[in-house]
Amino acid sequence: MDTPPPNLEQEIWRRLASAAGDPLDPMRLCTVATVLEEGGADARLLLLRGADADERVLWFHCDRRSRKVRQLKLEPNAAVVCYDPEAKIQFRMAGEVSIHEDDAIADQHWAQLEFAARDRYAQAPEPDVELSEIDPRLARQVRDVERSGEVHGRENFAALMCVVSSIDWLRLGEGADAHAVMRRDEGWRARLLTS
Ligand SMILES: Cc1cc2nc3c(=O)[nH]c(=O)nc-3n(C[C@H](O)[C@H](O)[C@H](O)COP(=O)(O)O)c2cc1C
Repeated sequence: MDTPPPNLEQEIWRRLASAAGDPLDPMRLCTVATVLEEGGADARLLLLRGADADERVLWFHCDRRSRKVRQLKLEPNAAVVCYDPEAKIQFRMAGEVSIHEDDAIADQHWAQLEFAARDRYAQAPEPDVELSEIDPRLARQVRDVERSGEVHGRENFAALMCVVSSIDWLRLGEGADAHAVMRRDEGWRARLLTS
């Protein structure tokens, strides 16, 4: 059994914060799993937009009209997984997600968003509509927005705040893996586990 580095929990948050600011970092791409409205599981890839080491909070951005927002409003418990293929390390986190839509926190995230990313939220038809059911006037509205150069879409934007309650850390090794779990309700003390 391989052993994890000392100060493992701080190292994890340092790694997450660095990934959130680096478009080329594979750990920026997270699988975020939620509970379907009718029960069962759902998951999708989201870009990590921020990691607050002091509060142990992860940030994601999304369209507030999306399915994940409807699911999280009913059941805020979610799981987040990311992987560093070079270091062969997986982070598997559980937490509760709150949705920031029309508050100052969402404004702050919107202000930091690059122009191209903002424009995606200006798409007039909401997500998951049958293409055959879309009114062509809506498509025209999108093109008008693009032509005008104005930035719309704030009304569709949401920032997801995931307050992490546990972290499962796994590093694949040559023959021996290293595995540890840290929980908020245990003061983030790392417990070493078999893998
Ligand atoms: C590489 C990649 C990055 C993505 N990043 C985001 C993201 O940051 N935010 C987002 O809402 N959707 C993102 N998506 C799209 C989602 O995976 C998903 O298809 C979309 O959000 C709808 O999910 P939902 O129906 O579960 O709400 C990304 C997809 C890929 C392939």
